[in-house]
Amino acid sequence: MSIADCKIIDLPKIHDPRGNLTFVEGGQHIPFDIQRVYYLYDVPGGAERGGHAHKALHQLIIAMSGSFDVILDDGKDKTRFHLNRSYNGLYVCPMIWRELDNFSSGSVCMVLASNRYDEEDYYRDYAQFMRARWNG
Ligand code: TYD
Repeated sequence: MSIADCKIIDLPKIHDPRGNLTFVEGGQHIPFDIQRVYYLYDVPGGAERGGHAHKALHQLIIAMSGSFDVILDDGKDKTRFHLNRSYNGLYVCPMIWRELDNFSSGSVCMVLASNRYDEEDYYRDYAQFMRARWNG
């Protein structure tokens, strides 16, 4: 899996003068079932999050409010995505190093994940991630 497998997914949007509505169904709009939801909020200006890769976890990252950037790196290519729409999600497949920065004030980053939290699923060391990525 590489950065080419990661993409912005246009989620369904029900327009309504009373306010818009977006929904996500596991296995339907995203290529995994949702086991966990977590969110980042109250992120101070200039802060960076992420800085790791996952061995098996699939994720969808959504800017529920405000905006931020997600930098994806598969060890070969690096792409920066700017997220600022609550009806868009960035699908991140396993074995991709990610960093998040450029958070606007009051922004909320929601992540839908394919598994429960498991520290064993993380690469938190870039060199170790690169070795695993390219040496199998
Ligand atoms: P981490 O994944 O490093 O955060 P980010 O990628 O957003 O920078 O997690 C930060 C801390 O929170 C770490 O101690 C693990 C803990 N954590 C959980 O306990 N459960 C979770 O679902 C997540 C995502 C993190």
